Amino acid sequence: MGTNRENSLGGKKVVVLGGTSGIGLATAIAAANEGALVTVVSSNQKKVEEALSMLSAESKGFAADLGDEIQIAELFKNTGEFDHLVFTAGDALEFSELSGLNIEVAKKSINLRFWGAIMAAKHAARFIRKGGSITLTTGALGKKPRKGTVVIAGMASAIDGLTRALAVELAPIRVNAVCAGTVRTNLLSSMPEAEKEVYFKQVGSNLLTGRVGHPNDLAEAYLYLMRGSFTTGQIVVVDGGSLLV
Ligand SMILES: NC(=O)c1ccc[n+]([C@@H]2O[C@H](COP(=O)([O-])OP(=O)(O)OC[C@H]3O[C@@H](n4cnc5c(N)ncnc54)[C@H](OP(=O)(O)O)[C@@H]3O)[C@@H](O)[C@H]2O)c1
Repeated sequence: MGTNRENSLGGKKVVVLGGTSGIGLATAIAAANEGALVTVVSSNQKKVEEALSMLSAESKGFAADLGDEIQIAELFKNTGEFDHLVFTAGDALEFSELSGLNIEVAKKSINLRFWGAIMAAKHAARFIRKGGSITLTTGALGKKPRKGTVVIAGMASAIDGLTRALAVELAPIRVNAVCAGTVRTNLLSSMPEAEKEVYFKQVGSNLLTGRVGHPNDLAEAYLYLMRGSFTTGQIVVVDGGSLLV
């Protein structure tokens, strides 16, 4: 059997929203290594330039606040037509027990990951070519919450539902999501380095894999979902087995 050209990322245009760090950057690099033409987007111009220095010369980058609909609409006018959209943008998240939850802060905290994903899908859809896809990002806490994660777990579950609804709404564009467990990225940048190391070691030692995830572990799942021309409305869990322990 010959290679299915539709399933290859070679020559495909991939836009990674949140592609300048962590899981998004690893996905951008992995897609570029497979011959994709990659565009990375995040809010900080300096981070966009740093990411571009790690990507091939034909890669592109834009700075945009993905919590802002006007900037998102403008962004896709600049990218033009493309094949695959990946949404990994995420800002700092606060764990808080319900009794002390600041509702106004909590409402704002879902703006980027939930509303940003909806706004990106809304404005990107008409630019996505036949055979193209959208891959969102959700978290294992949505399936297995712990104390202090009411907002985070609620948002993750909402993104799971959003993925299925978008798959129905936007078909034949395929829409899927990657559900991440704990991954070693800059997301915990507010935590001192030594404390972060202890945290990752402790979380990792309780996982079936004996370690937390590396962004490259997650990138594999985004690549699979971009290539998988018969896969839509699905959530692929990459969590080191956290749901089973
Ligand atoms: N790491 C984990 O353990 C883990 C677990 C479960 C789920 N996730 C989810 O996976 C996603 C990726 O996280 P990560 O760990 O890869 O984090 P990360 O390394 O901090 O990357 C987040 C990316 O989002 C961008 N971003 C932040 N605010 C933005 C905004 N307003 N507009 C546009 N871009 C923005 C950042 O760039 P700028 O600062 O330049 O904007 C960066 O490129 C997040 O949704 C996160 O919740 C992560």
